[in-house]
Amino acid sequence: MAVQQRRHLKSLFKRNKDWAQGMVEKDPDFFLDLSKQQTPEYLWIGCADSRVPANQVVDLKPGQVFVHRNIANVVVHTDLNCLSVIQYAINVLQVRHIIVCGHYGCGGVRAAFEGREHGLIDNWLRHIKDVYRWHKDEIDAQPTEESKIDLLCEKNVIEQVANVCHSTIVQHAWRANQDLTVHGWIYSIENGLLKALDVEVTDTDQLSATHALKD
Ligand code: CO
Repeated sequence: MAVQQRRHLKSLFKRNKDWAQGMVEKDPDFFLDLSKQQTPEYLWIGCADSRVPANQVVDLKPGQVFVHRNIANVVVHTDLNCLSVIQYAINVLQVRHIIVCGHYGCGGVRAAFEGREHGLIDNWLRHIKDVYRWHKDEIDAQPTEESKIDLLCEKNVIEQVANVCHSTIVQHAWRANQDLTVHGWIYSIENGLLKALDVEVTDTDQLSATHALKD
C-alpha cells in the first residue's frame, strides 16, 4: 500500500519539477530573489476548501500573499495558530491589507447551518452557529436554503473581519499609526469571481465601543 502511494505521489514531484523549471524560464532569478526575503503586502485569511486557493484566485505569485486558511475562515480569539499568523504578518512582514475571504457554498458554513453532527469539527463550527444566531431573523427570511446559507457565508465573513479588528494585535498596530486595512470578501466557486462585502476597517474608531481598547 505504501509503495503504491509513493508511486502515485511521484506525479506531484514531476509536476513540481516542471513548474519550478517553468518559473525559472520566465525569470531566472525568481527563486533566488524569493529565497532572500518575503515582502507580501497582503494577509489572506480564507477557507481551507481546495477550490479557493488564495494565490490563484487573485493571480499572485509566491511571495506576494501571506496565507492562513482553516475550515470556514474563522478567526477565534483563543486560536494561537491564527493569532500568530496575524501577529507575524503585521509586526514582522508589515502587511498593509488583511483580507478575510469566505466563499459561497462553504461546506463548513452549511454544516453549521444544518446542525447535523460531524464529530470534533462541531466545536469549531460552533463559532458559525453563533453568527447564525446573531443574524437569524434576516437569514431565515431568505427564500431558499441555498440563499440562507449564502447569506450566512457573508455574515460569517463580516463577523470574522470584526474578530480580526477586535484583536489586540490589530488595535495596537492602529494605535501605532501603522497603515493597515481589514477587508471582507466573498468568492463564488461557480464563476471564479470575488466580491467585496460592505466592510472595510482602517482604524479603531470604526469598532464597537465594547471592543475598542481604551487609551
Ligand atoms: Co469553505
